[in-house]
Amino acid sequence: MSSDPNSLSLLEGLHSTPARRYLSPDPIPEDVIRAILDAAVRGPSGGNTQRWAWIVVRDPEVKRQIAEWYREGWETSYGSRREQILNSDDPGGMSAATFRAADHLAGHLEEAPVWIFPVLIGAARSSNPRLGSSIYGAVQQLMLAARAYGIGSTLTTLHAGHEDDVRKLLNLPADALTMALIPLGYPARGRWAQPKRRPLDEVVFQERYEDRG
Ligand SMILES: Cc1cc2nc3c(=O)[nH]c(=O)nc-3n(C[C@H](O)[C@H](O)[C@H](O)COP(=O)(O)O)c2cc1C
Repeated sequence: MSSDPNSLSLLEGLHSTPARRYLSPDPIPEDVIRAILDAAVRGPSGGNTQRWAWIVVRDPEVKRQIAEWYREGWETSYGSRREQILNSDDPGGMSAATFRAADHLAGHLEEAPVWIFPVLIGAARSSNPRLGSSIYGAVQQLMLAARAYGIGSTLTTLHAGHEDDVRKLLNLPADALTMALIPLGYPARGRWAQPKRRPLDEVVFQERYEDRG
């Protein structure tokens, strides 16, 4: 089921890892999950302190409960604006395709065979606005390593409205913060297409920022 993880070049992987939200429930081998996590923890953290924990969730009951909380977040943030988002022609807004895919993920989250919660210990009591930089590099490595094995993922956060409930359910320390919920699964639909982004010349500045109004 897994593709050969050594056949994908690093740059090819970087250019072909979009969010994958249509996932099959097929199981992921244990050694593959371990290899993906082993790649993730090679990522950077300030002072290499690695104040992180990586919670692997497969329990259907835990997933069912958290998926309900996630759907609440989805409904509040996006789902309740379904018609408005689908009919909007605002180029800066969420595309209809992204909405449909995210809506599908919200409705089927618990079907992804494995979830990973990257957790930062101490983050719940921190006011450092750059704290996330001590884990999101590793999170991206996780998603790229998954991609090398042909496994799709999406960085999600819509469970966060129930952070305290999730903390209890996962038995996390009081000062820990879940930094994402990453569902993993073999893609059931879609392609490893290059993610669409604003052109470089719009977002890159030489030496200093300038207002391009
Ligand atoms: C901080 C953050 C939070 C996100 N939260 C969610 C989420 O809760 N649900 C979801 O479906 N996607 C979520 N995403 C995924 C983004 O929608 C996705 O990265 C973006 O649309 C680009 O997708 P692409 O790489 O496929 O082009 C999140 C991404 C980031 C960086």
